[in-house]
Amino acid sequence: MPDPIGLRIAGSGHFLPERVYDNAHFESYLDTSDAWIRERTGIRTRHIAGEGESTATMAVAAARAALEDAKLKPTDLDLIIVATITPEHVFPSTACCVARQLGLTSTPAFDLAATCSGFIYATVTAAHLTRGKTYRTILVIGAETMSRITDYQDRSSCILFGDGAGAVVLNALPDATGPALLHHRIHADGHGHESLWVPAGGSCLPASQMTVNERLHYVKMQGREVFKQAVSTLRQVVEGTLSEAGVTSDDVALLISHQSNIRIMEAARAKLGIPLEKMYVNIDRIGNTSAASIPIALDEARRGGHVRGGDLVMFVAFGAGFTWGSMLWRM
Ligand code: ACO
Repeated sequence: MPDPIGLRIAGSGHFLPERVYDNAHFESYLDTSDAWIRERTGIRTRHIAGEGESTATMAVAAARAALEDAKLKPTDLDLIIVATITPEHVFPSTACCVARQLGLTSTPAFDLAATCSGFIYATVTAAHLTRGKTYRTILVIGAETMSRITDYQDRSSCILFGDGAGAVVLNALPDATGPALLHHRIHADGHGHESLWVPAGGSCLPASQMTVNERLHYVKMQGREVFKQAVSTLRQVVEGTLSEAGVTSDDVALLISHQSNIRIMEAARAKLGIPLEKMYVNIDRIGNTSAASIPIALDEARRGGHVRGGDLVMFVAFGAGFTWGSMLWRM
């Protein structure tokens, strides 16, 4: 049994933009159908940021809700981590924008980019930082404005993505006998990077007329390849986490997976033998919100009464990079 980290989720919150694209929106201008999208992805609607909304504004709204839930003030925070691949700017970090909007002037804040696994990477990082005495109360946010990097002419990817943000306030505990991060695994394999990426806008291919003309600032995805990798990897990482933690899938009260595609989630769940009713699903309403997906689902699950004290909750994600990871919590 690995060394658990005594930690509780003191509060959670999420934000979704008001504007919604349903499948009829895509039917109106692309060669696609509501039936195809629902059957192949499980998605019916996704929220899309409006004018004046961006990754930082949504992150702040989620953060305020999480702080309110935790009955804490921004000044109670020792650290802020924002997981995102759609930052406010190239720099400064979205986390600095969030800290500023929360009225903070010296709290450390940084971004972490691990695509759809970003929230798991950020939470694991935060958990380990609580092992020293310096960072006891940490705000972890997953926030994405995927609509700003989505090519709405590419029918195989534009139907998937949505915008939103989710946040948790983590509170270090003196021991791991109660709520705790029991075990986790995080991994990366950069060989998959061209299967799912945004080719331009970084140092390797900076913005130019050519990159704009060629639509290289948008997500490019080899859907089938990502699908295959995701299903086998999600299963392996969950099985590894369970066996290393000395528990079985029967002990898991709730599976909160990155909401990537219902068929990926379903295939992984079935192979793991976890009953359907133990998997939290909101992809039908929210679509794939990358790093925001797990904290939005977690907040909905907590507020909906699906998470009780003492429950074992398994989190799992797979995303571009490739990156993947899992966390087993006792709530
Ligand atoms: N409407 C109608 N037909 C479509 C659409 C559409 N929106 N999109 C693709 N098709 C067509 C294709 O052109 C293809 O036609 P063809 O057989 O004539 O060539 C056919 O449907 C089947 O295409 P596939 O790509 O095999 O379809 P698939 O069943 O794999 O579904 C999808 C595509 C939904 C993209 C799926 O592959 C998938 O979900 N992949 C993983 C996505 C994902 O999880 N990404 C990672 C998370 S995001 C992140 O990390 C940032």
